[in-house]
Amino acid sequence: MEISGKVVLITGASEGVGAACAEAFRRRGARLSLAARSASRLEEVGRGEALVTPGDLTEADVRRRVVERTLERFGRVDILINNAGVGLYVAASKAPLEAVRRMFELNVFAALELAQLVLPGMKERHSGAIVMVSSIAGRMTLPWLSLYSASKAALDSVADALRVELKPDGIGVTTVAPGYVTTGFQSHVLGGRPPAGLARYQRFAISAGHCAEAIARGVERNARTVMAPRSGWIAVLAARLFPSFTDRQLARINRNLEQGE
Ligand SMILES: NC(=O)c1ccc[n+]([C@@H]2O[C@H](COP(=O)([O-])OP(=O)(O)OC[C@H]3O[C@@H](n4cnc5c(N)ncnc54)[C@H](OP(=O)(O)O)[C@@H]3O)[C@@H](O)[C@H]2O)c1
Repeated sequence: MEISGKVVLITGASEGVGAACAEAFRRRGARLSLAARSASRLEEVGRGEALVTPGDLTEADVRRRVVERTLERFGRVDILINNAGVGLYVAASKAPLEAVRRMFELNVFAALELAQLVLPGMKERHSGAIVMVSSIAGRMTLPWLSLYSASKAALDSVADALRVELKPDGIGVTTVAPGYVTTGFQSHVLGGRPPAGLARYQRFAISAGHCAEAIARGVERNARTVMAPRSGWIAVLAARLFPSFTDRQLARINRNLEQGE
């Protein structure tokens, strides 16, 4: 899809990948509607040009307000980037369900409901793009982010379902699977702390700008999946082809990470 002139609604746009997406889509001539909780950071990212709607997207009325305000201002949403997301560094066997529910409310239900809210207009125009910013963790369960992985696997399934349902309506659905991106994600989690040894994997990290460029190019070519970086495919394919071997490797890495090695 050509991005210039399109109305793009980006969630989690106050920092990290979402703020970088705002920049990547603005450069391509998009009109922006930005959502997240922090009003002041959204204003900064929006540079006085974008429509800004602060609020907590775990709340259904905030999701509705974000879409209503965008339709009032621009009359349409052409591209929805469901990027807002949060992590949880607690083992599945011990995780407090309240935190798990809150994570799923943002990572899965907010993304699904926002898609449902923008779809009537897209169907009428027989055109639109929905982007789900998932994670490589949705394709291989990372033991240090186990229930976050579960939420992203659920998001991937929602995206797969919508892609098939919406194909006759001319609406594309793209799943984004970033690896390690340098943002504040690790310090914003709902519980737990990243294992001590994780810092050394920062050498494989990509920047938020790199991730946002991959997302914008993915929308331009109506990609099914955007893997950022592309080398993530190697790990995903290995996990599919050799699941038991992958389990053993992940268990070993997890033990080393816990010991800070
Ligand atoms: N960083 C990574 O290594 C990585 C890897 C794979 C996938 N991802 C995914 O990429 C996406 C962006 O992550 P990031 O790295 O940019 O994280 P981040 O820097 O923590 O940014 C998260 C964004 O979501 C917003 N947000 C959080 N909770 C919210 C809520 N309840 N309601 C509304 N907005 C909320 C935050 O803004 P406010 O605090 O202002 O609300 C912020 O704009 C997420 O879906 C994440 O799961 C990240």
